[in-house]
Amino acid sequence: MLEIGKLPTHVAVIMDGNGRWAKSKNRPRLFGHNAGMQAMKQIVITASNLGIKYLTVYAFSTENWKRSTEEVSGIFKLIIKYVDSELKELIKNNVRINILGDYNMLPGDSVRAIDELLDKTRDNDGLVFNIALNYGGRDEIVKAINEIIIDRKALADEGISVDVTEDEVSNHLYTGVLHKNIPDPDLIIRTSGEERLSNFLIWQAAYSEMMFTDTLWPDYSPEEFTAMIEKFSHRKRRFGGREKEDK
Ligand code: FPP
Repeated sequence: MLEIGKLPTHVAVIMDGNGRWAKSKNRPRLFGHNAGMQAMKQIVITASNLGIKYLTVYAFSTENWKRSTEEVSGIFKLIIKYVDSELKELIKNNVRINILGDYNMLPGDSVRAIDELLDKTRDNDGLVFNIALNYGGRDEIVKAINEIIIDRKALADEGISVDVTEDEVSNHLYTGVLHKNIPDPDLIIRTSGEERLSNFLIWQAAYSEMMFTDTLWPDYSPEEFTAMIEKFSHRKRRFGGREKEDK
């Protein structure tokens, strides 16, 4: 049984391997994304049942626009399908949804589905499920810098000059207190054997634990997720400091 005190507060997931999974079955890439969405649904419910407070998934990056039009529009259609099939279940499980990224760049029908998802889950106070959509870590930092520049211009007009701090940059990220107010991830999981961040939460990942698995995302199960959470609970985190016994 997992001890509540040792649960990660925030788990972030790079859901990788949908394309390879589909290819291994001689099916189109979208078949893999559809299976990936099913895996994602199960992980959301598992995270909620485990009592994890924040779950973030990387669903579409600022770089994913380079994929074929068919694949990109297929992923956006999946979002509509997700809202249609899952909204009731999310409400029943008291899950609140946030979007990290500029989702207004998506087609109108996907934007409307997302707005409904946000609106109908707004008052829930269980798991906070963040979907990174049209999200890029560098893009997020640049947006934060531009917000800070606007603040600084206003301050300069009053003759005030102050240095930028780490907290100030953090506050202006999508996850920051001025936006969605989500703590940095304690654990970042990536599936499919790749071991890199790929522009995902690059500022917030400074002290995150990382776990990798060769499992392709559509095959990633609640059991494997739970085993990783269990493994996390045994890790000792130092945040750049040292443990007492090391001193
Ligand atoms: C990475 O696998 C996966 C994606 C870029 C898309 C992930 C999207 C989903 C799981 C569906 C999300 C649905 C909603 C509702 C948010 P890949 O295509 O890069 O796989 P590959 O590396 O094997 O080609």
